[in-house]
Amino acid sequence: MEHMWTLFLLCPFVFFTTVTSEEDNVCFRPQLAANIEMDGIQRYFNPGAELVLSCKQGYSPVSGPRTIVCGASGQWTKTKLICIPKHCPYPDAPVNGELYYEDTVYKSTINYTCNEGYVLIGASSAVCQANATWSAPMPECKALTCGLAPIPKFGLIIYDKLISGNTTDYGVTGTYKCLPPYVVFGNARAECTVSGTWTKMPECRVVTCRPPENIKKGFKSNNEQRDFEFMETVKYGCEGDYALEGSLQIVCQQNGEWSEKPSCKAPCSVGIKRGRILYNGRKLWIGDLQPNRVLHKEIVSVYCMNKARKCGYAVPTQCIDGKLKIPDCFEEPSGVNYTLHSGSLPSEIEQC
Ligand SMILES: *[C@@H]1O[C@H](CO)[C@@H](O)[C@H](O)[C@H]1NC(C)=O
Ligand SMILES: *[C@@H]1O[C@H](CO)[C@@H](O)[C@H](O)[C@H]1NC(C)=O
Ligand SMILES: *[C@@H]1O[C@H](CO)[C@@H](O)[C@H](O)[C@H]1NC(C)=O
Ligand SMILES: *[C@@H]1O[C@H](CO)[C@@H](O)[C@H](O)[C@H]1NC(C)=O
Repeated sequence: MEHMWTLFLLCPFVFFTTVTSEEDNVCFRPQLAANIEMDGIQRYFNPGAELVLSCKQGYSPVSGPRTIVCGASGQWTKTKLICIPKHCPYPDAPVNGELYYEDTVYKSTINYTCNEGYVLIGASSAVCQANATWSAPMPECKALTCGLAPIPKFGLIIYDKLISGNTTDYGVTGTYKCLPPYVVFGNARAECTVSGTWTKMPECRVVTCRPPENIKKGFKSNNEQRDFEFMETVKYGCEGDYALEGSLQIVCQQNGEWSEKPSCKAPCSVGIKRGRILYNGRKLWIGDLQPNRVLHKEIVSVYCMNKARKCGYAVPTQCIDGKLKIPDCFEEPSGVNYTLHSGSLPSEIEQC
């Protein structure tokens, strides 16, 4: 059965050979290992024919013989020829750079990179060629430099390290200063960047701020209608019981704007008619709070009843810009209960 199968597979060759040759035992073109090759395109060979094998491009023979002979039985003699890939020389990493490779045999690739602050001059990769040489020489890593930093009018730069000559290394930093009364407008810090240029140069400007506006329910320490200089300050205050929130004074900033203004926040009245409150650590009847006014952010407590346990407890609430919310649990007593049975109010009975 197996024999039949083989015969079937070889049928075209058998047909071919019977037509062109009377001999039965011919050798067919041999199957060769991956890296071995032979010349010509001949499909069959007569017994006694010799074939010279060779290694493919980029491969070298390590053991022979390289010749096979077609035997009388139609079988080629065995070959022990082995071809191994050629080796390119071991590569070196460039100074101030790195090298990446997995192998150095034919067709391998090596990649080169440069350390930060260096630019690669040459090819960033090379391939091992059939003649065991690299396709490109080792590149060079050249230090990145910037020229001297540009200087704004009325300004100067102070480098963070000593600079000699007309170039600065990558990563060098400095700080811009302006000659008074000019002020640095922009980023005062500078750096020589990867692209070989300096970060954006600031300008030197005379900075002034427009006269500051007033705030609602407040006043300011200076009402002059003039331009104010950089760093000049103006103070604010609030009328009456209004409380100042924010910074007491504003300053004319580098960008020609004032720093954030404070605001005046309204006081609150405690919106209960009958009851006792806890305020500033004192427990007092609402009628004794004269005037009925607490300041912005101050805390007042009213008393609520825990009906299940028949005890009273204080609930705090805060004055926020004129609004003081009375807690929902607070119940205003009737006038009669307030005057005649004040002892039974939540503020007077046992506290929870
Ligand atoms: C070399 O670089 C190429 C392309 O970036 C990448 O595909 C390959 O894996 C790298 N080889 C090595 C050995 O790093
Ligand atoms: C190796 O082969 C490459 C590409 O075919 C060729 O450019 C180069 O000159 C050859 N080098 C040597 C030393 O033969
Ligand atoms: C720096 O540059 C200036 C003008 O381009 C030149 O006159 C000077 O010789 C240079 N100095 C150095 C140290 O290279
Ligand atoms: C007055 O007090 C009594 C007993 O403490 C209570 O039952 C009643 O509901 C109170 N009335 C009002 C109007 O608060």
